Formats: sequence, structure tokens, C-alpha cells
Amino acid sequence: MRVCVEKNYGQMSRRVAQIVGQTIAANPKAVLGLATGETPEGCYAQLVRMHREEGLDFLLVTTFNLDEYVGLAPSHPQSYHSYMSDKLFNHVNIDKNRTHIPDGLAPRPREFSQAYERLIGSSGGIDLQLLGIGRNGHLGFNEPGSPFDSRTRVVDLSEETRRDNSKFFGSISKVPRQAITIGLATIMEARRIVLLASGINKARAVEHAVKGPVSAEVPASILQRHPDCTFLLDEQAASILSEG
Ligand code: GLP
Repeated sequence: MRVCVEKNYGQMSRRVAQIVGQTIAANPKAVLGLATGETPEGCYAQLVRMHREEGLDFLLVTTFNLDEYVGLAPSHPQSYHSYMSDKLFNHVNIDKNRTHIPDGLAPRPREFSQAYERLIGSSGGIDLQLLGIGRNGHLGFNEPGSPFDSRTRVVDLSEETRRDNSKFFGSISKVPRQAITIGLATIMEARRIVLLASGINKARAVEHAVKGPVSAEVPASILQRHPDCTFLLDEQAASILSEG
């Protein structure tokens, strides 16, 4: 696992957008794994800028998002469908038929999950997976205790995650209790992974993921076993790591 530290959030965002841009330039049909949350917003803003100013071409790109809340319609303002449209898809020339986000309203989530996995496989697998990290070390919505061999499925959200994500909903009572997320095994199959973390709130989770034992209690620690994974951090998120 490589650790790369940028001065601040803006530089971290520019750096990851550059990596995405290079991936698409090298392979216009790249398959991207995308994350949501506050952390990648700067990256998406940069990608929109690169599309407008530098002609970055998304026409043949395929995307798979990590997760979605169970029970939220795509049109719900806090759904990850809305997030992706608002932050990226509505502002670049991506073919919406090539964008995939788990369906939080799937009537048969088990069948839906299996189909999502098959679709990732038949698209050739994920070339570049972007990740954030929860304060408890979660990836996507794979909370502590998630098995390393987990695949796309419905999961219960921890109290801590619901509290953290209440910043988007106004109040914790409005945060759904379940989500559909790709699994840790699914994430580990991506050919290349870049995990983003910014701010002091993430410093402990980053330290545990990078230096701690590989343990289901810190789902992101599994990334130590990935052959091509970079933790791209700002100085605050790296602050405990760099203490020694
Ligand atoms: C959510 C998402 C994760 C994300 C995490 C951190 O739980 N499902 O994919 O990494 O939040 O979010 P933020 O970047 O807002 O701190």
C-alpha cells in the first residue's frame, strides 16, 4: 500500500482527478468504481472542470457506485443517485446507460445484488476504484465486522455511521437504517484502488487501516493486502501516521 500526502483538500482533489483523467486517457472505455460522501466532491468538481476546459471525454466510460441507501428513491435529494447526478453525471458527457448505482428500492435485493456483481464482471471488472473511509474504518457501507469475502448485499448501518451521515439529512432520525453496498471482496477485485481521506476526523481511521493489524474490525485494513492501492491523504488525515 502506498501513502501519498498532499498539503490540503484542494490539492488532494486535484491529484485524484488527475489520476482519473490519466486512467480515461489511457483507456477511454475505463470502468470506474465511484464513491460518495463529502470527501470526493472536490474530485468530481475537478473532473467537471477537466471535461469543460480540457475535453476529458466520458462518452465510453462505465461507472459502478459503491452503495445506496435502502428505501430512498433515486429522486430523493439525499440518495446517492441524486448525488452522482448533481456532482458529476449531469455535467459531463457520460452515457447514463453506462452508469450503475445500487437500487435502494429493489423489491428483491438479493437478486438485485447478484445481478450487480454479474454486471461488474461482464463489464470487465473495475479498473480504478475510488474510496472514502468512515471514521470507524468502513468502506462503502461495509461496517466493522463485515466479512472479507462479502459481496454486494443489504447491510445495517451502525449508529456512528448514521450519526456521521446525518449532516446530509438534517437529523439522524431521517437517515435510513440500511443500505445496499458492494462487498469487501468486490472492492478487492478492482485492479487499482485510490482511497481518499481528508481532515483530522479521519486521522485515527487512516492510522488503523495503514498500520494496524488486518482485521474485520477495521474494514479498510484489508487494503493492506491489495497489490495496487494508494491512500491519498491531506496533511490532517495523515497527521497521526506521520507522528511515527
Ligand atoms: C458514507 C459512504 C462512504 C464514505 C463515507 C465517508 O458512509 N457510504 O462511501 O466513504 O460515508 O464519507 P465522508 O466523505 O462524507 O466523510
